[in-house]
Amino acid sequence: MRVTSKWFILSRLTKKRGGAIMINIFTLSHAMLHPFSTEGKIDPFEFKKIPKWHPYRSIWTLHSRVLERNSRTFPFKFDESALRSSRHRRYDRGESLVDTAVTAHQLELLQLSVLSSANVDGYIVEIGSYRGVTTAHLASETSKTIYAVDPFMGYGGADEDYNIFERNTRNISNINHIRLPSGSAAVDFKGDISLLFIDAVHDFSNSWFDFCAWSPKVAANGFIAMHDVDDFPGVGKTCQLINSLPAYSIWAYAPNIVIFQKS
Ligand SMILES: C[S@@+](CC[C@H](N)C(=O)[O-])C[C@H]1O[C@@H](n2cnc3c(N)ncnc32)[C@H](O)[C@@H]1O
Repeated sequence: MRVTSKWFILSRLTKKRGGAIMINIFTLSHAMLHPFSTEGKIDPFEFKKIPKWHPYRSIWTLHSRVLERNSRTFPFKFDESALRSSRHRRYDRGESLVDTAVTAHQLELLQLSVLSSANVDGYIVEIGSYRGVTTAHLASETSKTIYAVDPFMGYGGADEDYNIFERNTRNISNINHIRLPSGSAAVDFKGDISLLFIDAVHDFSNSWFDFCAWSPKVAANGFIAMHDVDDFPGVGKTCQLINSLPAYSIWAYAPNIVIFQKS
């Protein structure tokens, strides 16, 4: 996919002069990583398997920190003109819910996207399912299979979360748990997706990787929901990149969630 090239990312992330040093570090670290892979194709989770002292891991850490710092230095927020075209809009988050960071209005929009994706062929996939609260709500709106992808290890995932996930979802027949990290699950996943909900690790490297790994499986007219777009600058950057791609338009927005539709 052309959009994953380093020049695509560089041209959109570093428009101001203050980014010059970061561009140099980015280019240097990218040149060193390039023999192994290209931007957006590197699974950040795979680096957890490499010892901390290994130079490849250090270069990667530097590389992703530069990208993250860049997201903070030049933060992105959807402005009114970008959001004007969105078909569904909530102006505040709504109430908090128990055991999930997804709020009432965000959930409302997610459920709306489940209903609207009924006529699109494909499964529903949630990347990062935590305690399964949102998963269960989504499952209640559809008879489609929902694949909940969560390894419950690393990046905060824990046995306790896994047990609660099991309890919250075990009696729901259309939820299938894939206990793998996003990258490995994407490699094995067969079939189209009508709604993809990305809500795993909230930095640029991970969220952009998740988008690059899964978006080719999303069917035409299908949806991609991104949580934490406003609270985490790296996710905001990923959404900025998605929004600049001609195939995607904003379909719904509430503070901290955006849902794109693919043409
Ligand atoms: C913010 S929580 C997800 C919240 C959930 N979507 C909800 O609505 O309640 C993030 C989850 O991502 C999981 N996670 C971490 N790394 C992951 C990866 N590489 N692939 C998939 N999930 C991952 C963690 O185990 C954690 O449970």
